[in-house]
Amino acid sequence: DWVMGDYIAEAVARIREQVGDEEVILGLSGGVDSSVAAALIHRAIGDQLTCVFVDHGLLRLNEGDMVMDMFAGKLHAKVIRVDASDLFLGELAGVTDPEQKRKIIGRLFVDVFKAEAAKLKAGDGGHKGGDESRAVKGATFLAQGTIYPDVVESGGTKTKKATTIKSHHNVGGLPEQLGLKLLEPLRELFKDEVRALGVALGLPAEMVYRHPFPGPGLGVRILGEVKQSYADLLRRADAIFIEELRNTIDPATGKSWYDLTSQAFAVFLPVKSVGVMGDGRTYDYVVALRAVQTSDFMTADWAELPYSMLKRTSGRIINEVRGINRVTYDVSSKPPATIEWE
Ligand code: XMP
Repeated sequence: DWVMGDYIAEAVARIREQVGDEEVILGLSGGVDSSVAAALIHRAIGDQLTCVFVDHGLLRLNEGDMVMDMFAGKLHAKVIRVDASDLFLGELAGVTDPEQKRKIIGRLFVDVFKAEAAKLKAGDGGHKGGDESRAVKGATFLAQGTIYPDVVESGGTKTKKATTIKSHHNVGGLPEQLGLKLLEPLRELFKDEVRALGVALGLPAEMVYRHPFPGPGLGVRILGEVKQSYADLLRRADAIFIEELRNTIDPATGKSWYDLTSQAFAVFLPVKSVGVMGDGRTYDYVVALRAVQTSDFMTADWAELPYSMLKRTSGRIINEVRGINRVTYDVSSKPPATIEWE
């Protein structure tokens, strides 16, 4: 694609010009925007970029390893993986209110990132691939995967109703607090352009066309108190659901049900119900499956997934995930329900 090739060459030149021989830090989340920003900046300045990946322990199955394989393994970028799951789960113990959970996760995320960034700013924290230590000169730039719709939203030109209902924890004011200059190479791009850029930069389509995932992660998909054991069950149920969505092709369109839905996930319900397995009675937890179709996430319809797919998915979850004995499908649209359950 010539147009995209020209765009990349131009963007790379601009980043090199702006950064010179200085060092850049970027917070990698595994989401589309920060991933594409990282790939683009890495293309431009290589080892002058250090990515910080804060693993809050509320990611999906194997997600942390996949991010590391992609960026440290395949792209050979410098990535620091901070395993902060004990910290997050510790602070979340006993907390049941959804907004309280969001605030705690958002605050800890900023704290952990700031601590890593401060080390890098001082030039004493860089290591490649998360192991072999190597000092960096000291960072002066903070890169963010801000895209055009984010710019418009924070400028107040667009009403952002969702934020008044649920607080999002996308970080503001960090560069000032850290005394770093901002580098935002995706500021002029729309989401579909960011995706095309990601593919052109060699990121896998599964990563670039992934459904959105909220910053607080499984923290808002485990209703009420977040526990490690609940997160482990939910991760496995969710992975089965996503696998079935990817593998079930709609004959009418030739597309997978993953691509036909805008967002799909499992939710952990901390209630127990009675079941029967073999000769025995079970008394285990419930998961709800949620799949929606939407163009703007402000309104959404529940997806009319094929019954055969739902049947296979529930059968697999109940058989493969010991501890879950009942699966339900959420048939609520937004409004009045929201997409997430918290
Ligand atoms: P709701 O549940 O409000 O979700 O219908 C609309 C979209 O926003 C996402 N969402 C979040 N994203 N932090 C995020 O980064 C959050 O706290 C948060 N809460 C909801 C949700 O996944 C959906 O795409």
